[in-house]
Order: sequence, then structure tokens, then C-alpha cells
Amino acid sequence: MSKKDLLPLIAATTAAYKKAYAPYSKFHVGAALYDEKNNIHSGCNVENSAYPIGCCAEQAAVAAMILAGGHRIKDIVIQAHKNNPCPPCGACRQIIAEHGNADTRIHLVNPDQSLSSYRIEELLPQAFSTGHFK
Ligand code: THU
Repeated sequence: MSKKDLLPLIAATTAAYKKAYAPYSKFHVGAALYDEKNNIHSGCNVENSAYPIGCCAEQAAVAAMILAGGHRIKDIVIQAHKNNPCPPCGACRQIIAEHGNADTRIHLVNPDQSLSSYRIEELLPQAFSTGHFK
């Protein structure tokens, strides 16, 4: 997908981090994704005074996709309000692996608004998946 095609996703990501609830870390993150129908779903991080139960932006975006009836992440853009690029944490890599596939692209917004793009296999090699149940 070209940078031009990703511009709506970048805009949704920027809008999302502006909604973040991050009074503890003060690190605001937004994520927005295209599902298999090119519908956009976005999320921001939502922290809690009981620190471990906070929710990452990527996790919130995936929850929004599932709620809206989407199934598969085609592209996901991640951006923080500072210190970009913001790579997904380990748990979010596992969540992206669950709801993505080999064609999924993870795009990190750089300070100059360019994108660094990765496949999930690069970010989470040897991922655990349902295949290991069998
Ligand atoms: N955060 C995300 O939302 N996504 C990531 O992949 C990295 C970390 C959030 C979690 C927490 O609210 C804040 O950033 C600082 O860790």
C-alpha cells in the first residue's frame, strides 16, 4: 500500500493519540488500522491507577475492529505524541499476530512523518499461535 493510501490511517492515528488517557505515563499513543474491507478502526491507550490493567492503543484498535465486525488487520499505523517511532510492545505484537496475517503491515510513524514498515514475522519471529494447540 502506498503512503498516499495510508494518509487516512495516519490522520486517524494522530486523532487517536490526542484522545489518549495517559495521566500516569503521560505517553500518548494512537493506532489505526484498515480491516479486510478497508474500514478504519482506531484506538488510544487508556491507563488506570492500578497500573497493570491499562490498555495499549493497538489493543483498543483491534477491539474496535472486532466490535465493528472486521476480521483481519491489513495495515496498522502506530504513533505517539513524542519520541516516535513507537514500536508495539510485546503483548501488542502477539495481538497483531492473532488478528493479522503474513500480508499485514505495521507502520511506525517517524518524526518527519515518513513510515517505517514491518511484517509481523519481523517483529515477532517464531510466534505462538493456535497451530501450537494441535
Ligand atoms: N503503549 C501503547 O499504547 N502501545 C505500545 O505498543 C507501547 C506502549 C502505552 C502503554 C502505556 O499507557 C504507555 O504507552 C506507556 O507505556
